[in-house]
Amino acid sequence: MSYSGIKVLGLAGEYRSTSKSGMLVNEALKVAESKGAEVIFWDLNDKPLPLVGEDGCWNHPTVQEFQSLLLECDAFLVASPEYHGTMSGVMKNTFDWMYDKHVGGKVFGLMSNLGGVTNANTLNHMRISLRWLHAWPVPEQLAIGHVKDAFGEDGTLNDDALQSRLEGLVESVLSTTKKFQS
Ligand SMILES: Cc1cc2nc3c(=O)[nH]c(=O)nc-3n(C[C@H](O)[C@H](O)[C@H](O)COP(=O)(O)O)c2cc1C
Repeated sequence: MSYSGIKVLGLAGEYRSTSKSGMLVNEALKVAESKGAEVIFWDLNDKPLPLVGEDGCWNHPTVQEFQSLLLECDAFLVASPEYHGTMSGVMKNTFDWMYDKHVGGKVFGLMSNLGGVTNANTLNHMRISLRWLHAWPVPEQLAIGHVKDAFGEDGTLNDDALQSRLEGLVESVLSTTKKFQS
């Protein structure tokens, strides 16, 4: 099935597309693009979002650009590193710039990467935050433990089983978005 007409925004809980969560999101976006979706990656290194609450943040032009883009997008692919057992502060700050009016009723695919053993802490914590935004994370999800060794030089995942989970996650995000739109 082609998913043309669906616009997907990729968000990472770290700066740089070359961070491990940046790589994970971009791999997921590549899969979404191969299925016909339009994809965009928001690179915080190029367009850092201010911290919510800091001086001048409320009318910051980057925030306005980010929130307009949220409104335009139908679905979101998100990856956060695990920091001290939860999502990174960068990821949480990105969520804090979202409101129900931007992402409510829209579909999310959740991924996390961590230095240690695979677990679902960060994924579960992201689900809780998204509940407050009335967003719809799909049941499929992906955590990549021992992330230092997870990617090959071409940016794809070394483990075929993880790559196939990634593809299943993206398919679920796109097919659920299509159902929501019908
Ligand atoms: C402040 C901090 C806290 C971290 N806490 C955890 C943790 O609780 N569990 C874990 O497995 N890895 C932890 N890590 C490792 C990161 O998850 C890991 O560096 C990241 O997923 C890899 O992305 P990177 O190579 O792009 O930095 C932590 C790293 C930092 C910097």
